[in-house]
Amino acid sequence: TIEQRIDLLLPLMTLEEKVGQMNQYNGFWDVTGPAPKGGSAELKYEHLRKGWVGSMLTVRGVKEVRAVQKIAVEETRLGIPLIIGFDVIHGYKTLSPIPLAEAASWDLDAIQKSAAIAADEASASGINWTFGPNVDIANDARWGRVMEGAGEDPYLGSKIATARVHGFQGETTADLYKVNTIAACAKHFAAYGYVEAGLEYNIVDISNSKLYNSVLPPFEATVNAGVRTFMNSFNTLNGVPATGNVFLQRDILKGKWKFDGFVISDYASIREMIAHGYAKDEDDAALKGVVAGSDMDMESYIYVAKVVNLVKEGKLKEALVDDAVRRILRVKFELGLFDDPYKYCDEKREKATIGSKANNDGVLDMAKKSIVLLKNDKNLLPLKKSGQKIALIGALANDKNSPLGSWRIASDDNTAVSVLEGMQQYKDNQLTFEKGADLIVGKTSFLNEVVFNMTDKGGFEAAKTAAKNADVVVMVLGEHGFQSGEGRSRTDLDLPGVQQELLEEIYKVNPNIVLVLNNGRPLSIPWAAEHVPAIVEAWHLGTQTGNAVAQVLYGDYNPSGKLPMSFPRNVGQVPIYYNRYSTGRPIDSDKNVFWSHYSDVEKTPQFSFGFGLSYTTFEYKNLKLNKTAFAKGEAVEVSVEVTNSGKYDGKEVVQLYIHDDYASIIRPIKELKGFELVNLKKGETKTVKFTLTNKELGFYDNEGKYLVEPGTFKIMVGGNSDKGLEGGFEIKE
Ligand code: IFM
Repeated sequence: TIEQRIDLLLPLMTLEEKVGQMNQYNGFWDVTGPAPKGGSAELKYEHLRKGWVGSMLTVRGVKEVRAVQKIAVEETRLGIPLIIGFDVIHGYKTLSPIPLAEAASWDLDAIQKSAAIAADEASASGINWTFGPNVDIANDARWGRVMEGAGEDPYLGSKIATARVHGFQGETTADLYKVNTIAACAKHFAAYGYVEAGLEYNIVDISNSKLYNSVLPPFEATVNAGVRTFMNSFNTLNGVPATGNVFLQRDILKGKWKFDGFVISDYASIREMIAHGYAKDEDDAALKGVVAGSDMDMESYIYVAKVVNLVKEGKLKEALVDDAVRRILRVKFELGLFDDPYKYCDEKREKATIGSKANNDGVLDMAKKSIVLLKNDKNLLPLKKSGQKIALIGALANDKNSPLGSWRIASDDNTAVSVLEGMQQYKDNQLTFEKGADLIVGKTSFLNEVVFNMTDKGGFEAAKTAAKNADVVVMVLGEHGFQSGEGRSRTDLDLPGVQQELLEEIYKVNPNIVLVLNNGRPLSIPWAAEHVPAIVEAWHLGTQTGNAVAQVLYGDYNPSGKLPMSFPRNVGQVPIYYNRYSTGRPIDSDKNVFWSHYSDVEKTPQFSFGFGLSYTTFEYKNLKLNKTAFAKGEAVEVSVEVTNSGKYDGKEVVQLYIHDDYASIIRPIKELKGFELVNLKKGETKTVKFTLTNKELGFYDNEGKYLVEPGTFKIMVGGNSDKGLEGGFEIKE
């Protein structure tokens, strides 16, 4: 067995070699964090040859991977193979939509397939471990990394986390041995999604209730799904850096959840404990990291320099080092690296797999499923396929880079199908394109800040002329792909640059506007929501963006996406989320000012969690429960009839929400506890069934204990989190 093989190997290893397994170096290019102190390619090669490196990240391509693996296997004393990590976040070279967009599909099979495509391409390129999925629940759109997660809801987030782990790794640990699967990594443990004020790398200060009920469930779901690695996070949690957090990593993850894979630090986060003011120096950082259960040091150069001495001086127990190494070796054995260290190094497979037709078809399917129709007044959509004069406006419409989104290190620049290219395929319409204004100034990349054009309106007049002469105007506006992602916090969620002005100018000459949004986070678009008749949320949809958008605009695909995050009316509402709490003064009962509200804007979001339209319409009726009173532990059976009452075949995400009326800790006004994707032909009716068990009806108390309390519950079933059919039931003592 694997454990027996580890038992044989561990005693052969020197302390230095063991600590070497706990050391990970970045490759020699494409840094994904600040340049580390003291590192150089020479030093990395020297350590590699000594057997002091257990893993490398961001090395990619069969040729490069083979070269470093060869050193590990053939030049070190024990020949222990490297595990090769990479940020395969939404595809490798053939890109899927950004993860937040995929979440909008609510389609778990499609999401799993998308992760499997990513794993297939990455593994064909020598990689066997991805730093994903990101399962950080987040409700502050100012934080740029919301694009990498599944949105604001822990129930949806847990389901998606499971789908992604299975997509990367396969459904069982045995699947990890296959050549086209890779080890997954649940990140960032924990609570990174709650950085104060949405400011990147900031502190996190949250209640136990939030931690247990919102932050931790998707992580626990990944453990149950068999995830093999975890990454900790840059943030402190209530005063203690996640990287040095015994409670998170030892008590919860490895203790309560019995996780037997390994934990990688985030990039230099062992070292960052010094800057946080938690560790005195490098020795202290190393000690605190290992004691807290951070098994592998990503690019801090601290474990490799300090851990051996700490053990020799008796400050750190060797048993803790052994435990970390055992975990790392376990995953290497599971991947089959000891049986064939070059199993992912097959040039022929690399050539045949990357960018294949099948992978492009797969990401196109995912892209279409990720689009959300936010508004369609005047039935402007779908566009007619012939005889229409269409003006396509906005620099993003002709951009082949931005739609690829952030976090796409392996993909080549300018490889997306642009919206212009997608629409040009519908040849029987007259299509004219005008950019209106440049979105950004200069070049942009993953490492650099995006600079927005705030002044140049030189293209406005040409765009206005095109709009005036058109029947319909399609405007592609929003954020550049590199405006969200790591290090991209914003304090303003409006359309950046001169785009709002452009929109209003065009509206004056032709109000028949279809606004196609490109963005990696919820935006505030109150003016557009009020004036523009049709709005399509198209995120950053990856390689096949233009084809997906065109097929939706022209009605060859009926959109069915639903928002995984609430869209605020303005940035001042943030954080805003559907599963908020009631407060003691939730409504205006006295017609005076003393109730929970804003004086200048409604307190509801512009577009709510779970919201999304279709070209057809759906009607809900006959919400039924099998009983109205239940004993604790008894299953609550719910059914509802859904009819496609419109003119097109379509797909609806039927959503079930509960509210626990009173509890020992207050409960959110609504909580998603079930959803079902239903295909309905025009005129068709289906009965959708849900079962609520203890798993759905309880909550965690402030000590992390799961409780199901007797009392009354409300239930709501519908097509979004705002409105639906309502019912109720009671759980008796
Ligand atoms: O995986 C990432 C992480 O999400 C942020 N810091 C760098 C890591 C490796 O690139």
